[in-house]
Order: sequence, then structure tokens, then C-alpha cells
Amino acid sequence: MHAEPTTDPARPGTAVVTGASSGIGDEYAERLAAAGYDLVLVARRTHRLTRLADRLRSEHGVDVTVLTADLAEPDDLAKVADRVAGHDVTLLVNNAGINGYGPFTEVDSRLQARVIAVNVTAPTVLARAALPEMVKRGRGALINVSSLLAFSSDMPPRPGTGRAVYAATKSYLVTFSRTLAAELGATSPVRVQVVCPGYTATEFHLTQGDRSVEGDTPIAEGQGMPAPDVVTASLAALHTGEVVCIPALTEPAPVRQLAAAEAEIRTAMGGRLARRYL
Ligand SMILES: NC(=O)c1ccc[n+]([C@@H]2O[C@H](COP(=O)([O-])OP(=O)(O)OC[C@H]3O[C@@H](n4cnc5c(N)ncnc54)[C@H](OP(=O)(O)O)[C@@H]3O)[C@@H](O)[C@H]2O)c1
Repeated sequence: MHAEPTTDPARPGTAVVTGASSGIGDEYAERLAAAGYDLVLVARRTHRLTRLADRLRSEHGVDVTVLTADLAEPDDLAKVADRVAGHDVTLLVNNAGINGYGPFTEVDSRLQARVIAVNVTAPTVLARAALPEMVKRGRGALINVSSLLAFSSDMPPRPGTGRAVYAATKSYLVTFSRTLAAELGATSPVRVQVVCPGYTATEFHLTQGDRSVEGDTPIAEGQGMPAPDVVTASLAALHTGEVVCIPALTEPAPVRQLAAAEAEIRTAMGGRLARRYL
């Protein structure tokens, strides 16, 4: 069942954050609650979400719903998609992600399928559920959390080794977001952003396969960019309309150069066979 439409356009509306039980997602929830968003928090660890929801309600006076779901499970994903399609949802943060690192030929193919399900299928299904209402209302935003590893295909064997499927899922989010943003158009009131963090200090590096970390493991400082900095960059970029947000990239010129190189490659579209293949 969908929530009632947000009648007051001055209010931010409802943000759905996947993977809100830790790390970057927990920080999005914190910041969005502080900005006045009502929240729907999605992840598998209900106890973490409930604790966060209780605190955000009491500290910020916003409405917070906990939606326990395993995004790799079709029935759970459908349940979240149904909520995301609600008239009140003005922001979807597709943040949940798992790594499944390991040599390609050795990692269990069922785990590789779950990496694709959580990192690719779920964000796509949820975006598809959310966007029609946003477009209809002329208001809303989609944030997809990718990774700098999206740009790692040409890296020498290390440290890229063991990351082929994960990196490819994150590349998908970059291409998906950029192409979708282009499809909606630069003047669309509905914004699409892909944020590509580098190494970030979260539990992500402690996870095994797709199992959550048990208990509350403190994350030592110095283990990468703090999650709050990633979210600061993402929310600032949402404000300015930057589609590809790279929190630690001081000068965004390489993103423009990448687009220019792609445009040059696309000149081959429908062209003649290149001489080197003759
Ligand atoms: N940390 C980094 O260095 C880094 C760098 C670049 C990009 N990223 C990306 O940033 C995003 C957030 O990661 P993080 O660093 O904050 O790591 P994290 O602390 O491990 O958070 C991952 C979140 O995803 C949720 N999740 C995992 N599998 C799920 C499933 N099947 N269904 C529902 N929720 C699921 C986890 O919750 P439950 O376990 O409770 O389900 C958790 O809330 C990910 O997409 C990751 O790929 C991270």
C-alpha cells in the first residue's frame, strides 16, 4: 500500500535509502533526516534499522519506516519496489551493495549472481518503480552508489584482481545513470546522480561473501574516506546537478575527457569496417 501524496511541496518528501543499516547508507539516512526528509530504511539487519529509526525520529521529528528486505530475493525486492513507487517518494538512494571479491574462476557462481542481483538488478528495478511518479509530478531524484572501481578495467593485475564482477556491476551503474540522465534531459526536474566513492571507511571491507558483519564493529579512522564526506559530496552534487559525482576528484576534467573519448568511439557507429581487420 502506498503512502498518501505529499501535499506540501515545501516539504522534502520521503527518501528511500537501501543499505541503511551501516556505512554510507546509514550516513545518508542521518543527513536526509536532518534535512527534514521522512525516511524508509531498507536492509536485512532489522535491529540496526530499528535502532537508527528510533534515534532519527526522536532527534529530527521525521517519520521513519523500517523495511526489512533482502534485495537479492525477488519477493522482498517487489515489496520494496511497491513502497518506492509511492506518491510521497521524492528521493531514492540505491546504496546497498556487496563485493563478492575473489578470483573470478574460484568465487561461487551463486555468490556472483547475488552480487549482480543486489548491485545491478535491485537498483534498476527500484529506479523503474520510482521514476514514473517522479516524472509525473515533476519532482524527484535518484542517487546510485557506484564506485571508483567502475573505472578499473584497464588496471594492472593488482589491486584490481578479484574484482571483475563487482567492478562490472559498478560500471553498469555509471552507464545506467549517465544514459538515464541524458534520456530525461538536462532540464528535467528529476535528477539522476551516480556517486563513485573510492576506498571508504565502512564495514564493507569486513564483509565475507554476502553475509552482514555481526555485532557492531568499530571502523578505525584512516581506513579510507569517512562516509560523511562521501555523502557531503553526493548531496552537494545533487544540488548543482552534477551527474557523475567523484568525491575525492579535485578537478572534474577527466569526467569530461571520458565523455569526449566516448563520443569519439561512437563515431564508429554504423561506420565501415576498420582497415586493421582487413
Ligand atoms: N566502502 C568502500 O570502500 C566503498 C567504495 C566504493 C563504493 N562503495 C559502495 O558503497 C555502498 C555502501 O557500502 P558501504 O561502504 O557503506 O558498506 P557497508 O557498510 O557494508 O553497507 C552495505 C549495506 O548494504 C546492505 N546490504 C547488503 N546486502 C544486502 C541485501 N542482500 N539486501 C539488502 N541490503 C543489503 C547492508 O545491510 P544488511 O547487511 O543489513 O543487509 C548494508 O547496509 C555499496 O554499494 C558499495 O559497493 C563502497
